[in-house]
Amino acid sequence: MNADWPSRLAARAQARHADGLWRQRQLWQTAGEVRDFAGNDYLGLAGDPRLAEAMAEGARRHGAGARASHLVSGHLEVHDALECRLAELTGRPRALLFSTGYMANLGTLQALCDVDPRVFQDRLNHASLLDGAALAGAPSRRFHHRDLADLDRLLDRAPVEAPRLVVSDGVFSMDGDVADIPGLAAVAHRQRAWLMIDDAHGLGVLGAHGDGCVGRAHGCETVPVLVGTLGKALDTGGAFVAGSEALIRLRVKPRTFSARKGSARRASAFIDRLNIAR
Ligand SMILES: Cc1ncc(COP(=O)(O)O)c(C=O)c1O
Repeated sequence: MNADWPSRLAARAQARHADGLWRQRQLWQTAGEVRDFAGNDYLGLAGDPRLAEAMAEGARRHGAGARASHLVSGHLEVHDALECRLAELTGRPRALLFSTGYMANLGTLQALCDVDPRVFQDRLNHASLLDGAALAGAPSRRFHHRDLADLDRLLDRAPVEAPRLVVSDGVFSMDGDVADIPGLAAVAHRQRAWLMIDDAHGLGVLGAHGDGCVGRAHGCETVPVLVGTLGKALDTGGAFVAGSEALIRLRVKPRTFSARKGSARRASAFIDRLNIAR
């Protein structure tokens, strides 16, 4: 073990190379006729001039900065309006904004879990869901990808008195396949577990109203915890969790102690984005 930081960093970098885990950023050239099959701008809104104008108008009206956290003086009418629109879009009583999807998942899992609940995650879930449960200190198991029988088997083995939470991506970010929401809901119901779906990649693309693979088709009783991001198809940045009044009332840490919940400028542009997407 190297005691000094530079040697330690070099050793860690070398180990990542050796394990084939080293990642290299590339400079993305936006000019020219390039087709992007790797990005998340599914509706092509990133370059829409109406939205660039809405961003500019939002900045003129509300300022470009975030001012403060929600708890202090950073929660404006426009944030409230956006939360109401997102609740309406997803057919839930309430929604709560976050600065990113990563933060939404960390914050929501932290709010739901401590060491008592048992968390059951699809093996291919996004890193933020795995990190969220780990940071909350919740004992977690991973079931085989989209394998309801494996999930059922793991739930059968969990202590009966422990609260149980089943967690899955809606659309899996790397493979693009979609979770079996009715199947997960049926197992969760039978096993007295809550179901949390991260529909980062379904929102704006799937569902009768662009409301994702959960949305209004699967209400709060079926999927009590729904996370969506605004930085994929809707391409503004930010995220939200939607659910019951009781869930949203838990004012979780990344929301309370961060000013970056999404500036008013972004929130107002996002409302325009919802109008255009509709
Ligand atoms: C399924 C899923 N959840 C959450 C996130 C994190 O969202 P954000 O980029 O807004 O932090 C991603 C990002 O790629 C994702 O694919």
